[in-house]
This record gives sequence, C-alpha cells and structure tokens, in this order.
Amino acid sequence: MRIRKAVIPAAGLGTRMLPITKSMPKEMLSIVDRPVIHYVVEEAIKAEIDDILIITGKGKRAIEDYFDRSFELEYYLREKGKIEELRQIKEIGEMVDIYYVRQKKPLGLGDAILHAEKHVNGEPFAVLLGDDIIISDKPAIGQLIEVAERRNSPVLGVEHVPHELVNKYGIIGGEKIENDLYRIKTLIEKPAPEEAPSNIAIIGRYVLTPDVFDALRETPPGKGGEIQLIDALRTLLNKKEIFARIIAGERYDVGSRVGFIRANIELSLTRKELRSEVIELMERILREVLDG
Ligand code: G1P
Repeated sequence: MRIRKAVIPAAGLGTRMLPITKSMPKEMLSIVDRPVIHYVVEEAIKAEIDDILIITGKGKRAIEDYFDRSFELEYYLREKGKIEELRQIKEIGEMVDIYYVRQKKPLGLGDAILHAEKHVNGEPFAVLLGDDIIISDKPAIGQLIEVAERRNSPVLGVEHVPHELVNKYGIIGGEKIENDLYRIKTLIEKPAPEEAPSNIAIIGRYVLTPDVFDALRETPPGKGGEIQLIDALRTLLNKKEIFARIIAGERYDVGSRVGFIRANIELSLTRKELRSEVIELMERILREVLDG
C-alpha cells in the first residue's frame, strides 16, 4: 500500500475558539505569521503527499484564497521590489495540488470524511486534523504512513494524556506489540475517566483504508449527535486489524486558547530572525509580572 493522498477536514465550527471563529475559520488562525493549516499542509508535503483534499464548509473561503495564487499581490510586490515577500507568497500557491469539497451541514468528523470518498477513489489515504500542529524531525503523518505501508492496515496517531483529560479525546485500548506500536482492541470517543480503557489518546493524525466509507455509512450519530469517525473504526475492528502508533514530536493543540498561545511563543522561538527579540520580550514581561 502506498499513500499519496491526504484529507484535511476543515469544516468544523471552531466553537472552542469563539468569538474569533465567528467570522474567521479556525484553520486560518495565525501562528507567528502563517495560518495553522499552512503547518498542516507542510507536514503532509514533507511526508511525500502530493494530493490534498480539504473538506470545507460555510465561512471557509479564506482557506481557498490562502492557497490560491494572488496575481494582484504578486504584481504589487514586484513593483515595490519586495522580492523575498514575493517569493514567499508564490511558494504558498505552488505548494501542492489542493482540491476542495464542501460539507453542507456540520454533521461531524465522520460525515466530513465521507465527503472524501469520490476523491480518494479506492486508495488508502491520510487524514490530518487542523487542531493539532505537530513539530517533529520525521513528519507525524509520515510516521503513521510507514507503519500503514508495512502492515497494510489503518493506523491512528496517539499519545499519552493525563487521565483526567481522556474525555477530550478518542481513546484506544490495545496490546503493545512493538516499541510505540499498539494493536487496537477497542476505541471509544471522549469517555468519562472511569470508562476509559487507557490514557492513550488519538491526536488528529490517521491513515485510513477505503473500507472506512462503508463503515461510516452504517454509523448512526454518536457523541454530540454527530457521526463519529471512532464509531466507524470500531465497526471496522470486527473485520480487520487497526494499529495505533505513539507519535514522536511536540504537539500543540491550537484549537484551545492556551495551546494556541503556547504554539505562538514556542514556534516564534524556532525562527532565527525572531528568537532573540522574543526572548528579550518574554524576559521583560516576566520580570514585570513577577515584580508585581
Ligand atoms: C476529534 C476526534 C477525537 C480526537 C480529536 C483529536 O475530536 O473526534 O477522537 O481525539 O479530534 O484532536 P474534536 O477535538 O474534533 O472534538
């Protein structure tokens, strides 16, 4: 199995980040100077994905404009001699082949993924959720692709989370078969801590096989009245093996306020042109805060 297509569901309403998401897609929130979805697309490209389908919805046009060429802006920058800026914005338009399909009603992640069926056309595919930015040497989705290709099976990206937070994630139960690799036995969406089979949480990276679409079609609405991907994967477990791999890397949950602020601070420190100024700024702020 060879994975070259990725699906990025971006139709969610972003209620965790209201009010900004009232008029702006959460995928376009800025981390330093680029939107969240830019980091996610870059991760897919690093994993040699060459075809990306973004599932959009109402109010998400800014995403399409971001990845489109902007001839007016290019003309303006060329006239002003702003060559570096020109190079950067042209690069965005040329990153990869990006396609779009709209989810007309917000019926959940499972339903969003069903919208990808025609496009993936019977091939296994990667899924990357925009709530998580993962910074790692080897791209997070590439880590899953490696296992999926070797085992010819779906693979979910996971990490250990504090037990009291299991109700924010899809949680797996399984047996450890290799370092960082589990064979999944059970899956549950956002369980109460006392119901959770473990504290191993799914973090927005998946490699799926096309049989997930039939399973999704048979899945009734679950948690929150939405069609849950996890519920469909649980059905699929009756027919095939599904694996979970602990992802190596630093994850930022940019769909939450503190995660978003942390991502902005830490990722600005990885930019060499910003690093020393940001450190100075943080030192000054901290001193002022601590001195009261
Ligand atoms: C979704 C999935 C959940 C997963 C999470 C990871 O939930 O339904 O299983 O753990 O993404 O970010 P959401 O955060 O969209 O409610």
